[in-house]
Amino acid sequence: MIASSRTAVCRAAKKQFSAKTGARAVSAWAKVPQGPPVSITEAYKADSNPEKINLGVGAYRDDKGKPFVLPSVRAAEKKVVESTLDKEYAGITGVPTFTKAAALLAYGPDSAPIKEDRVAITQSISGTGALRIGGAFLERFYPGAKTIYIPTPSWANHNAVFKDSGLKVEKYRYYNKDTIGLDFDGMVADIKAMPKGSIILLHACAHNPTGVDPTEEQWVAIAEAVKEGDHYPFFDMAYQGFASGDTNKDAFALRHFIKEGLRPCLSQSFAKNMGLYGERVGAFSVVCESGEEKKRVDSQIKILVRPLYSNPPIHGARIASEILNDPALNKQWLGEVKDMADRIITMRALLKENLEKLGSKHDWSHITSQIGMFAYTGLKAEQMDVLAKEHSVYATKDGRISVAGITTGNVKRLAEAIYKVTG
Ligand SMILES: Cc1ncc(COP(=O)(O)O)c(C=O)c1O
Repeated sequence: MIASSRTAVCRAAKKQFSAKTGARAVSAWAKVPQGPPVSITEAYKADSNPEKINLGVGAYRDDKGKPFVLPSVRAAEKKVVESTLDKEYAGITGVPTFTKAAALLAYGPDSAPIKEDRVAITQSISGTGALRIGGAFLERFYPGAKTIYIPTPSWANHNAVFKDSGLKVEKYRYYNKDTIGLDFDGMVADIKAMPKGSIILLHACAHNPTGVDPTEEQWVAIAEAVKEGDHYPFFDMAYQGFASGDTNKDAFALRHFIKEGLRPCLSQSFAKNMGLYGERVGAFSVVCESGEEKKRVDSQIKILVRPLYSNPPIHGARIASEILNDPALNKQWLGEVKDMADRIITMRALLKENLEKLGSKHDWSHITSQIGMFAYTGLKAEQMDVLAKEHSVYATKDGRISVAGITTGNVKRLAEAIYKVTG
């Protein structure tokens, strides 16, 4: 019986190969289904309207709508190139001068875990890589249920990153579509209803996609609820400095949780605040109870990273390290982060002002009360379709627009298009 079925399998396998060439007659990937598109830029690219507007990209643009390389990054890169360092491999956890300074930037110089040297940190492939290492670390070692709660909505990639890490993903309430603001009561109620010791993902600042952040008082209450439930906080900080223009202010939530005695883990990205998108510079860190625990955690992070990519790229990390460690460059960079944040805040105000000038009866106050790169307009999927088809304005169907794509040159036309679509 077993022998005959084996023969049948062999015959079927042989059939898959062409007798002449020995190559497969049927491709190994013949059954791979077509996946949905992952970006909206194709429709934008295909549009021939010279006044088309792309509000879909999650990257900063200058007031001419062009990609922006920070002058501090140019200067730091020049320093790196001129130092003619070798191109040897970094260690598994990356460039130490970078990770040390990245931890300091996030946790602050007065942070007890930093002073007591109990933060395990590794360089990562930007924020996405940090989340992925974090997901894998929790899946392997978290003693409680391997379920992570993410906000509704959340950055579209969170679900996939954590699922692919082997965690179960659940949701908690975050955004209230009626108020276009935070569903604070719903969020706290959901945190309280989670099983004790749950893992909770929190956007540290500039929530993507809604641009809706809790106030400092609300963060205090959220920390209380997390503490009460004995939950494990995982902070995703992809926009430090980008929300308010002040890197310390944007780190409030993370630092407050630590002051409250919680020991979170953290994903950091330098894509947005240094404009190092394609360089893929980030870090994943775990606040530990002691220096001894840090050593054990660190050793296991190395074991996780080694078979993933051996060690991270060095160039971007060296640039970030210069910016974080050279006092003059650091000062310059902080000024540039503030300039980027301020331009975004100005564009929010201009968009709202233009809509009001047109006589729009809608309340657009959420455009200016939201924070960071994205604004959740409250527009429906059908309205976003009309914006694209009739006005050449491209953004995601959930009504999210990247404020970084708005300029003094296109804000009037954009307001007119939104006005026409919303009445
Ligand atoms: C909330 C959030 N987390 C993480 C990331 C990761 O970005 P990156 O991998 O480019 O650092 C992003 C990027 O848009 C984001 O919005």
